[in-house]
Amino acid sequence: MAKRVTIKSRTQATEHEAVRCLILHPELGAKRPRAAGVSLAPVMPLRDSTALLAEASSLASAIGLVVAHAEYVKLRRIVPASLIGEGTIKKCAEWVESLEIGLVIIDAALTPVQQRNLERALNCKIIDRVGLILEIFGARAKTHEGVLQVELAALNYQKSRLVKSWTHLERQRGGFGFLGGPGESQLEIDRRLITDRITHIKAELATVRRTRGLHRAARAKVPWPVVALAGYTNAGKSTLFNRLTQSDVMVADMVFATLDPTLREVKLPSGTKIILSDTVGFISQLPTQLIAAFSATLEEVVEADLILHVRDIAHPDSLAQSADVRAVLLELGLGEKIESSLMEVWNKSDLLEDDGDEELVKFDDSGDFSGKLPHHVKVSALTGQGMDRLLREIDRFFAAARPSVDVVIGYDQGKLLADLYRNGEVLSRVDREDGIHITHRPRLGRSE
Ligand code: GTP
Repeated sequence: MAKRVTIKSRTQATEHEAVRCLILHPELGAKRPRAAGVSLAPVMPLRDSTALLAEASSLASAIGLVVAHAEYVKLRRIVPASLIGEGTIKKCAEWVESLEIGLVIIDAALTPVQQRNLERALNCKIIDRVGLILEIFGARAKTHEGVLQVELAALNYQKSRLVKSWTHLERQRGGFGFLGGPGESQLEIDRRLITDRITHIKAELATVRRTRGLHRAARAKVPWPVVALAGYTNAGKSTLFNRLTQSDVMVADMVFATLDPTLREVKLPSGTKIILSDTVGFISQLPTQLIAAFSATLEEVVEADLILHVRDIAHPDSLAQSADVRAVLLELGLGEKIESSLMEVWNKSDLLEDDGDEELVKFDDSGDFSGKLPHHVKVSALTGQGMDRLLREIDRFFAAARPSVDVVIGYDQGKLLADLYRNGEVLSRVDREDGIHITHRPRLGRSE
């Protein structure tokens, strides 16, 4: 077995395809009740263990691993040395043997010591949830900046493990690909290699960011508002994006099909143009260092004029997922924006059974709603149901941000009349003796 830390580039880190894996989702304590699904009533954002297990499996499949077995385990207590107890370890060892498992994924955060002990006990490679998410991020990142950011996050994670494991471990994890073979020792050299690489990546990132800043400045001159799709992974953001833009951004029935922002132009019913931005899927227990690593994708959300929070409303953990997304948005300092400029899009409504008489658009319970965003609009990105309504609500939101004006123009001012039509909406027009009476709403623009 290799004894060196190899820092692989992302393109190299794909050798784990077709590895058979076992997924273990440990949970502490008594079984919790199921989340109450679709409801506006305040329900604690609890999570359904079956759904969590399915999510972990989906995450693993997303990077081409073959999920040979997935199991939910209830822990009576945490065993400090190995997280899970002896009985579970024994069961796992049997599965590893009989199912020819090459990788065990523990869907929790493991300490380096726990990871080492489990690897020894099972004689098999182990990764935890953070390692898995890093692998997925690495496999999905498309832009140069995205790739660098993931590598930086991965190296920082690995470095912290090296530091923590300094006195405990004679062995440490493999290279950037956490699924690669575990290397042995040479900790100091490894740490220096990682530190050098981190310095190098940071410098490269600074250059890339400068370029991106220039791009963004160019875009800011485009006089159209930006609408960002945000939402839990697999909520259907890319499908909605495609539906609204008629493009074919990769859609896959797996998590994290999207990791880099995609921008497209969409024309609203009023003629107003917006830039729609598809962003990375959020996920629970996303470590803070990963949130920072994905600032590029999330910056689109931070800078958006309107955030559409896309929810898989048919998912048993819809509420918990929503709470996770909101928590991340809050962490990004978007508290005010959540209040004033966020609309929920309840997607996958085609999967709801009791969909009969529910309102398609729902406002909060009080006040005058003119110019207000609805709490949510119910849609199905798959069937296209609710799309017109969604676009109209987006239109209404931006219309409220630009009050209409009444003007009278002379019959000889043809160019001005044409400008009014070109630069906004003519809400009403009456031709009178003294001139043309027009109620005009200017098009919203960042330059206004
Ligand atoms: P990430 O890239 O992981 O963040 O996912 P995403 O939110 O972009 O989800 P995506 O659009 O890739 O959709 C995930 C899965 O849900 C795909 O299998 C879609 O076909 C499916 N899906 C999306 N919208 C709908 C919908 O309205 N109804 C149904 N039934 N399925 C949908």
